[in-house]
Amino acid sequence: MPINKASLIVFESFVKQRGRRKLRVIFLGPPGSGKGTQASRLSERFGIPQISTGDILRNAIVNKIGLGIKAKEYMDKGELVPDDVIIGIVGDRVNQQDCENGFILDGFPRTVVQAESFDKMTEEMSIPVDVVLSLNVNEEMVVKRLCGRMVCKDCSTNYHIDFNLPKKKGICDQCSGKLYHRPDDEEDVVRNRLRVYKETTEPLIDYYQQKGLLRAIDGEEKIENIFKQLVSVLEVM
Ligand code: AP5
Repeated sequence: MPINKASLIVFESFVKQRGRRKLRVIFLGPPGSGKGTQASRLSERFGIPQISTGDILRNAIVNKIGLGIKAKEYMDKGELVPDDVIIGIVGDRVNQQDCENGFILDGFPRTVVQAESFDKMTEEMSIPVDVVLSLNVNEEMVVKRLCGRMVCKDCSTNYHIDFNLPKKKGICDQCSGKLYHRPDDEEDVVRNRLRVYKETTEPLIDYYQQKGLLRAIDGEEKIENIFKQLVSVLEVM
């Protein structure tokens, strides 16, 4: 998501208050727990980019580049894209200039192999992660959220047909792009994504707990309440 001038001003004053310039955040949580919704708001609030591996892959699919063609077959089934592909993407992205003051990782890491590679990378680049925010949401709520989700095809902002409506039906509030329903948000694919999450990604909760980086947040609250809690966690980092 592009960073506007107002959010840079907010970030500058935030930086002055906390006395250092970097804020590096990882979001953990099952599909539909609200990672994208909150990461996008925090990106604007703190003036640091949201890095969504799901969005990067979906853009590659739309633009029919090699990476997208390879990723689509995994994504359509709700399976994970191979680790080496994802690790390469994130390594390139966190090296870009707009990540100088930090970043919010949304959807990465998702396996222990990805987490260990990222640890190595951040150590070599001297860019330690400050906090891992873990959103907890029960399975049936996830299914309800994803089956009703609508996404902007241009800027990827998320909406929901019951909980988070756009002002104008089918149109994005942010950029006036058209909203669509993701193919991997069909119920059978959502249930497979949840199975993959439990088997492969959930172990990362312990992984980061042991490193003393984990902050668990109730993801079943209202969007605004969760956002306030997350801001208060990040402001005192
Ligand atoms: P990705 O796009 O990352 O999907 P995901 O992690 O499954 O997460 P979602 O985007 O579905 O959910 P979210 O937690 O962001 O929730 P959101 O805020 O949208 O990945 C897609 C695929 O790409 C993967 O399956 C895999 O194939 C591949 N991939 C990506 N990264 C990979 C990696 N690292 N390794 C390997 N493969 C990878 O919210 C959901 C809905 O709920 C929205 O409608 C929203 O409006 C609503 N909502 C949000 N919060 C609330 C709330 N508090 N109350 C009510 N409604 C809410």
